[in-house]
Amino acid sequence: MENQRVRKAVIPAAGLGTRFLPATKAMPKEMLPIVDIPTLQYIVEEAVASGIEEILIITNSNKRSMEDHFDRNYELEERLKAAGKNDLEEMIRHISDMVNIYYVRQKEPKGLGHAILCTKSFIGEEPFAVLLGDDLVVNEGGEPALKQLVGAYNEKRTSVVGVQRVPMDEVNKYGIVEPQDKNYDPDKRRIKLKGMVEKPSIDQSPGDLAVLGRYVLTPEIFDLLETQAAGKNGEIQLTDAILRLMDIQTVYAYRFEGTRYDVGDKFGFVKATIDFALKRPELKDELSAYIKELASKI
Ligand code: UTP
Repeated sequence: MENQRVRKAVIPAAGLGTRFLPATKAMPKEMLPIVDIPTLQYIVEEAVASGIEEILIITNSNKRSMEDHFDRNYELEERLKAAGKNDLEEMIRHISDMVNIYYVRQKEPKGLGHAILCTKSFIGEEPFAVLLGDDLVVNEGGEPALKQLVGAYNEKRTSVVGVQRVPMDEVNKYGIVEPQDKNYDPDKRRIKLKGMVEKPSIDQSPGDLAVLGRYVLTPEIFDLLETQAAGKNGEIQLTDAILRLMDIQTVYAYRFEGTRYDVGDKFGFVKATIDFALKRPELKDELSAYIKELASKI
């Protein structure tokens, strides 16, 4: 395992998406678009830009739209070509050419840890990445969030969880890490961990460094997930298994660089939509004018 590269990534997309009902009744939340691109595509693009060669998406029975999105659509390609819309045809084809994507079904939504356990035979004995569609990270001009974590893994050869600071009154929404050194250097990106707790109450939180949807894990995690008892909400929690992983290896947090959007939350989703739209040349002038007009009335 010493010199193994992080080649494989898993993207869990089998949650119920209750916060986005009814949109998620027949469609996974990972297919909700930010402007016109499904969040799942942004996540796949980040994985590819981080050197990932094979992706396994964990699905439930709502998987059709995801499989179709990353597959060829010959009829649409032909129609676009016939209409002279070559740019669109190329863009559509590029989505299916990006990377090898596989799918596995999580039969019941028993939690993120249980979802990751479903990928055991695909991963085998390699380090691997996990990316959650809930967190979109934009790092313009810099490295993608996952690539930064892979860099940290390559230096230490041990599991790394991606974190950023969050406001103290929001820690109960996240997995919060506990640094080994309480007075860790706030300028340091890599932090040795002592503990981790899922959605702590504000007064019992070990800090404000929240785990934000990016991980590089070593395969020892699977043995732990196999014996992991149900935790918060009766679900098998990845956080609980990573906590036990700390007994057998040093686990690091990596404070990744970039602006992160919590698109699993309605307000975060709307913010991401506005910010992404403001960066689109075809939308930005009209949208800026509209926002200014709205603001003048509030
Ligand atoms: P969340 O808890 O954010 O997803 O899980 P959710 O349960 O779908 O969302 P809400 O709270 O009901 O709106 C984080 C990630 O883990 C996946 C989800 O798809 C999401 O990407 N997940 C969660 C699974 O794949 N399986 C599960 O059993 C639970």
